[in-house]
Amino acid sequence: MKPRHFLTLADLTPADLRALLDRARVLKTEFGERRMQETLYGRVLAMIFEKSSTRTRVSFEAAMVHLGGHAIFLAPGDSQLVRGEPPEDTARVLSRMVDCILIRTHAHRRLEAFAGAAEVPVINGLSDLHHPCQLLADLQTFVEHRGEIRGSKVAWIGDGNNVCHSYIEAAALLGLRLHIASPEGFQPAAEILKKAGGEVILSGDPRQAVEGADLVLTDVWTSMGQEADAEARRIAFEGFQVNGALMRLAAPDALFMHCLPAHRGEEVTSEVIDGPQSVVWEEAGNRLHAQKALLEFLLR
Ligand code: CP
Ligand code: NVA
Repeated sequence: MKPRHFLTLADLTPADLRALLDRARVLKTEFGERRMQETLYGRVLAMIFEKSSTRTRVSFEAAMVHLGGHAIFLAPGDSQLVRGEPPEDTARVLSRMVDCILIRTHAHRRLEAFAGAAEVPVINGLSDLHHPCQLLADLQTFVEHRGEIRGSKVAWIGDGNNVCHSYIEAAALLGLRLHIASPEGFQPAAEILKKAGGEVILSGDPRQAVEGADLVLTDVWTSMGQEADAEARRIAFEGFQVNGALMRLAAPDALFMHCLPAHRGEEVTSEVIDGPQSVVWEEAGNRLHAQKALLEFLLR
């Protein structure tokens, strides 16, 4: 039987996603009371990182320890992948040794090649096209604050790339109203928009996108791997900063989220990210609980 992978949020049904969010909430309570159950006793997760990470790496590794399992971290350059071993060969080998594999890689197609050959579940720890693990934590955080996300207006300001693409999939799964404001040339990929469901509205106007929004989001202007274009991007994204003036156009109780790491003074001001509407630390902390729920879902 083919294993169940988590390469994009669309690998889940709406019911799966709801169940994951419910389970994450229980796991968070258990963690808070320090009474974690060893539901993944003896299980091993291999984690391949082809780019940097703080949150994804530490949350998955801590999750495996709390659930009685173990995680093996392969830093960029640690495995034979860096010397050209085909991802399919690595996937076949690791499948005989571990129960689950997480990969953070530049090219989504490399992840798909890996998953196609793997005999154990593969998790996308961030690719150029998607960041589904981030969405699990974001959705959990919103639901904790507001109870329900269906019908809420979500404003995405900035680069229409990986994290934004996962929001487009979330719009279809959970019926949220997603308004995206990106500069010309930095809008979401056409093939992802083609499959969008729910309300997904594109514009070049951040003010229009945030008007009355319940949740305002942004991401870095220069993602990992795009450093050579940083200066051109700074120019292109001028006017797409989430600052106090923009935030005041959103609903008075709107939340602000950012996947982190953030660049204060670029995509967001300190007034917003360090202000009262920001829930970025809870959002980051929820990576632990949401991913525990995901690991249980894929492995049990
Ligand atoms: N948001 C996120 O994935 O953070 P890291 O790059 O630190 O893992
Ligand atoms: N868009 C960012 C997300 C980092 C978690 C990047 O790809 O670098």
